Amino acid sequence: MLTGKTILMGITGSVAAYKSAELVSQLVKCGAQVEVVLTRAAQEFVSPLTFASLTGRQTWTEMFAPGPTPIPHIRLAEQAEAVLIAPATAHVVGRLAHGLADDLLTTLVLATRAPVIVAPAMNVQMYRHRAVQDNLERLKALGYHVMAPGSGWLACGAVGEGRLPEPETILAVLEEVLGAGTELSGRKVLITAGGTREPLDPVRYIGNRSSGKMGYAVAEVALEMGAEVVLITAPTALAPPSGAVVIPVETAAEMYQAVLEHFPGVDIVFKAAAVADYRPVKAASQKIKKQGQPLIVELAPTPDILAELGRRKTRQILVGFAAETHDLLDSGQRKLAEKNLDLLVANDVTRPGAGFGSDTNIVTLIFADGSVKELPQLGKKEVARRILAEVVKMVDKE
Ligand code: PMT
Repeated sequence: MLTGKTILMGITGSVAAYKSAELVSQLVKCGAQVEVVLTRAAQEFVSPLTFASLTGRQTWTEMFAPGPTPIPHIRLAEQAEAVLIAPATAHVVGRLAHGLADDLLTTLVLATRAPVIVAPAMNVQMYRHRAVQDNLERLKALGYHVMAPGSGWLACGAVGEGRLPEPETILAVLEEVLGAGTELSGRKVLITAGGTREPLDPVRYIGNRSSGKMGYAVAEVALEMGAEVVLITAPTALAPPSGAVVIPVETAAEMYQAVLEHFPGVDIVFKAAAVADYRPVKAASQKIKKQGQPLIVELAPTPDILAELGRRKTRQILVGFAAETHDLLDSGQRKLAEKNLDLLVANDVTRPGAGFGSDTNIVTLIFADGSVKELPQLGKKEVARRILAEVVKMVDKE
C-alpha cells in the first residue's frame, strides 16, 4: 500500500516529535517517498538532519528558501498523496481549524488536495480544553482525518489522553486512508431514492415526504468508494451525483420494472426510496372536477419491490430501509426476515432530526444475525458512510 507513495510528514513542536523519527523510518522501510516538513517549534525538539538522514531528502523548514525551489509549498502540496501531521500540537490544530497559513506546513495543507491525517499530541488538560476539542471537531467537519491520541503517562508528568499514538497505529490509519476510494471498486451498486408518485389524474398524485437526501447520500458514498452506481430515483429536487447512472422513475410500478431489470447484474442493493404501498386503481385521464361531495378513491396494493428482490437474490447483498413511527425494533426485525435482507436501516421518522426531509438521520442498523447497532444523530452523508462501512465488511467476508 505504501510502496512508491509520496507521503508528506508534518512535524510540529511537541516532545513527541522524537517518535516521528521512528515513524519516518518505518515509512521509508515500507517503500514510501517521505517529504518531511518541520515547523520552527519542532526544530527545538528534533533536528532537520535526523530526517534528512532517514529519508535521503532535504528536510523542509522554510516557507521561502533559497535554491531551486524558492516557494516549495505548491510543489510539495501537489506531489503529496497523503499528508500526515504527527505530532500535531494544540497550536497547529487551531491554525488548521481556522484556515490560517502562516508557515510552510499550514500553507501546504491548504494547498493540497491529498487527504490529511492529524495525530494530536499534547498535555491532557490542553487536549481536553474546550477550545482544542472545538477545533478538532471543526477539523473533522472540514474532512481531516483526526486520530484519537493514546492514553497513559505523558512527558509532562501527567497521566491521561494526549500521547502520540504508536507508529503502527498511525501507519494503519495511513494505509486505511490511502486505500479509501477502492473499497467497492469493481462492485456494482443499485440504489433507490426519493418518494414514488401514484397519479390520481393528470395533475394530482398520492406521494410521500421523501426528499431523496438519504438515498443520494448513499449513492455519493458508494461512488467515493469506487463502486459503479445505478441510481433509480423517484422525483426529487436534488442534483444527481456525478458518475452515477441515473434512471428517473415516477411510480412504484416503474421503479419495480427498473429495479428488476438491473438486479441480476448488481452486487449490492440499497432500497432507500419510500415506495407507495397503494396506488389508485384508476388514474383519471382528465382533471377530476370538484363536485362538492366526498370523493372515494379505490386503492390497490403495489408490488413490494424489496420482497421480490429477497425472493430472487442469489449473491446480492440486500439493504432495506424502514420508516417507522413506533415499534421500530420489532417491525424492523420482521421486515428484515420477511424480505430476506442482510441489513435493515430503521429510522423512527417521528424523531426530530430523523427521517424524511431533514439533513440528518438517527438510524438503528439491524443485521441478519440478530445484532443491532444504534447510531447517534448524524448528517445523512455520515449515516451513509457508516452503513456502507458495514456493507464493505460483508463484501470482504465473501
Ligand atoms: O428521502 P429522505 O427525505 O432523505 O428520507 C429518507 C427516508 C426516510 C425515506 C429513508 O431513510 C427511508 O426510511 N426509506 C424507506 C422508506 C419506506 O418505504 O419504508 P417502508 O418501511 O415502508 O419500506 C421498507 C422497505 O421496503 C424500504 O426499503 C422500501 O424501499 C421497500 N419497499 C416498500 C414498499 C414497496 N412497495 N416496495 C419496496 O421495495
